[in-house]
Amino acid sequence: MEEEEGGEEYLFKVVIIGDSAVGKSNLLSRYARNEFNMNSKATIGVEFQTQSMEIDGKEVKAQIWDTAGQERFRAVTSAYYRGAIGAFIVYDITRRTTFDSVARWLGELNNGKLTTDRVVFNRSWDYKGLEWTRHGISEQAHSDTTIARMLVGNKLDLENIRAVSVEEGKSLAEEEGMFFMETSALDSTNVRTAFEMVIKDIY
Ligand code: GTP
Ligand code: MG
Repeated sequence: MEEEEGGEEYLFKVVIIGDSAVGKSNLLSRYARNEFNMNSKATIGVEFQTQSMEIDGKEVKAQIWDTAGQERFRAVTSAYYRGAIGAFIVYDITRRTTFDSVARWLGELNNGKLTTDRVVFNRSWDYKGLEWTRHGISEQAHSDTTIARMLVGNKLDLENIRAVSVEEGKSLAEEEGMFFMETSALDSTNVRTAFEMVIKDIY
């Protein structure tokens, strides 16, 4: 990444977290490439995509990190929450256990934020040779109030086997001060809206 004057202030880092198989990777592929995969493999570690959008005539780039939901990758993925100023916490509306996990994911996110603050303080920008940190954050973006978080109930197309009601999702999000949206990566419902709502809020 170049260090162009003024060119980096609209690059934000956003993470997608939540239990395995809730549809995180498909939400991102639907948003970034309009692709959906019925047989997608579990993500190993993390992957990211950079997505641009125009807000008020300015180009805003979001670096969106898709993390592995499987427990065995937890130690690796939590390292990537550093510098994130937007987060999607995803559950599957047909599996209550994935909704019950949301509290734990929020806890992980808070741990990551503390790490971020230390990183900023020490001016140690580099993480394993990746250069995103410096670009993805600004110091005032680290207070609790500026992190944009959205609770996402995915697989809305499977409403007939829903196990978590809209009201439950909404009220949890309200309690935690998060946005809330139900989506379907399969039929595209609300996917673009969800991503753009968070990115616009950060901006
Ligand atoms: P990990 O990478 O293991 O954390 O999982 P993930 O959250 O990235 O899940 P992934 O996107 O790989 O999707 C898991 C399975 O759910 C796949 O078979 C997808 O096809 C399916 N899936 C994802 N989103 C939807 C959706 O909106 N509706 C339906 N019906 N299936 C979906
Ligand atoms: Mg995945």
